[in-house]
Amino acid sequence: MKKLKSILLGLLTVMTLTSQNNVPVYLDNSQPLELRVKDALSKMTLEEKVKLCTAQSKFSSHGVPRLGIPEIWMSDGPHGVREEIEWDSWNAAKWTNDSCTAFPALTCLAATFNTQLSRDYGVAIGEEARYRRKDILLGPGVNIYRTPLNGRNFEYMGEDPYLAARIAVPYIKGVQQNGVAGCVKHYALNNQEVWRGHINVNLSDRALHEIYLPAFKASVEEAEVWSIMGAYNQFRGQHCCHNELLLNKILKADWKFDGVVVTDWGGTHDTKQAALYGLDIEMGSYTNGLSSKATFGYNDYYLANPFLELLKKGEVPMSVLDDKARRILRLIFRTSMMGNRPYGRFVCDDHSNTARRVAEEGIVLLKNDKQFLPISAARFKKIAVIGENATRSMTEGGGSSTLKVKYEISPLDGLQKAYGLQNIVYSKGYSTGPSVYGRVIEPKENQKELFDAAVLAAKDAELVFFVGGLNKNHEQDCEAGDRTTYNLPFNQDNLIREILKVNKNVVVVLVSGNAIAMPWLKDVPAVLQSWYLGSESGNALANIITGKVNPSGKLPFSFPVKLEDSGAHAFGEISYPGDSINQEYKEDILVGYRWFDTKKIKPLFPFGFGLSYTTYEYGKMSADKKQYAADETIQLSFTLKNTGNVDGAEAVQIYASQPKASVVRPAKELKAFDKISLKAGETKTVVLNVKVKDLAFFNDKTHSWTVEPGEFVLYNAASAAEIKSTVKIQVK
Ligand code: GLC
Repeated sequence: MKKLKSILLGLLTVMTLTSQNNVPVYLDNSQPLELRVKDALSKMTLEEKVKLCTAQSKFSSHGVPRLGIPEIWMSDGPHGVREEIEWDSWNAAKWTNDSCTAFPALTCLAATFNTQLSRDYGVAIGEEARYRRKDILLGPGVNIYRTPLNGRNFEYMGEDPYLAARIAVPYIKGVQQNGVAGCVKHYALNNQEVWRGHINVNLSDRALHEIYLPAFKASVEEAEVWSIMGAYNQFRGQHCCHNELLLNKILKADWKFDGVVVTDWGGTHDTKQAALYGLDIEMGSYTNGLSSKATFGYNDYYLANPFLELLKKGEVPMSVLDDKARRILRLIFRTSMMGNRPYGRFVCDDHSNTARRVAEEGIVLLKNDKQFLPISAARFKKIAVIGENATRSMTEGGGSSTLKVKYEISPLDGLQKAYGLQNIVYSKGYSTGPSVYGRVIEPKENQKELFDAAVLAAKDAELVFFVGGLNKNHEQDCEAGDRTTYNLPFNQDNLIREILKVNKNVVVVLVSGNAIAMPWLKDVPAVLQSWYLGSESGNALANIITGKVNPSGKLPFSFPVKLEDSGAHAFGEISYPGDSINQEYKEDILVGYRWFDTKKIKPLFPFGFGLSYTTYEYGKMSADKKQYAADETIQLSFTLKNTGNVDGAEAVQIYASQPKASVVRPAKELKAFDKISLKAGETKTVVLNVKVKDLAFFNDKTHSWTVEPGEFVLYNAASAAEIKSTVKIQVK
């Protein structure tokens, strides 16, 4: 009887775990995800589960070969799929089929204020990652723009948490619909590059939850991102890659994140903490993969043999390992083992068109005296293009987001195509040397000769395009270092001043991902903020300058007049860059325009600012009710008219304030926006919703979001400094 029972039980087990076509459940795409995960886990040994938690090469982590569960392949970066890297080094593998489409850097995407375009962007870059057989795309980066000196601001989405969240969510959804995991980064408080590997960030719970976490929270709760990257720095004394509060409590318990926490490369520092404080996959610890120790480096990783030892000694419960393995298997079943996984596409017209549309919609027209722009092709016959950024590649360099591209149209290429090769002379004006990671290489050219030649070219021309800004070199817009000055580098301010002495018709085109000082602003008729636009740079720029496309971008971060005006630089070294051990974000919740508005400091250009070749008229805003309960939604409407003679698109913004709050609150905060296309003369009624619950502040006494009853003021605005009308409402 007993034997019969055990045979029956055995049969039953086999029956449940192999579907009708006799395939193990975990291999059967028609089975529910959690059943596949459970089945695979039940078949794995202790060693196989531990293996899942570490790198096997520079950009891949272990699978389970015995069970036919593939390894996970990861790739940078947020605005293009990085070239193949060697197995055990940071060197390029020098493949010949991995030259990608470079999309604009994410500050440009944020500047579009266009969530549909962000979805298109995510789909396109996701297709390229899928085609290149990547399972995790290491992006988007959503760290908040706190200081203008941060070397990686160009990779992120500006100073406002609401804008960053709204742009990150569709991007991630677009990537993941290709069967590729997004990896929102760097979680959290990696807001500078100086001492990034260890600086211990301290700040209030309010600032943490109101400013630095919203984009990550939206990525998890709304985009359902499948992985997240721990930051290098520390937060309240624990490294972010194994941080009990950030990972176990906030991310996995409160936000119910069911995906994988991946370290930044080399972000792991302790086995027990990595095991117990929420880390799932450890990458890049011994950067060459071959440690100085006797055995192969990967086996020495914190979550490799040392972790196995702790498990065998019972110092870490098996449940901790099973949770990691479950999350990693879930990611594998969502990506490489997903049923009907798409095939992706690589370097196609659709991707170029998406890249160009994002670039065109992200370029910000900052100044345009007397409609100096647009400039028709016939207007000038002698044009001087000056500045190294007119020809310098901006897709390579910048750190881990560096790309090997199929093509890159430079600003000079674009301008020559638009105005005719014969009508344009180019003069470099200055040179900056090659982009080398972590080091500044002095250029060889004679800077005075370049300078004088450029002034001469300007003197002989009818029109000057000065194409300058920053670049992807160390201590510019680049990872692993911050800028050392807020001014334009490479003597550009003097060059612009000398050019203006010999020619008044100067258009300044800033190719950069950061704010800069502009001592020459009053003397220049037109200024464009032209981000790192990727493969289609020159085409997008020329389409804007010639008027083929009407600019509609708006700034995702403020431009202070001078560095000291910025909140991060108002409290001495401990606030930026810290004392090399600790750092305190003393401006607290008053980041960006929240600082300028509340402290009544006028920025050079405000958050949300951008001009157009047409003009818009905002009607008086009204709300659908006078009073709202905490769980209701405020419906706001106003008319918007294109009062010019050019079709265009306007990023309208809604801000909110609580005049009498029990706590300090910013003068106003962005709570809604939309991009409204209008033909010349056309009027539309704009309707925008603001949930009452989104008017809350983070109450660090009760540790929850609180909407206090009372009056709130809502503004419709063209930027943080251009309020059009206000509406007062009561919350019951
Ligand atoms: C880098 C960056 C991170 C990148 C990773 C892999 O140090 O901080 O953004 O994805 O390592 O290159």
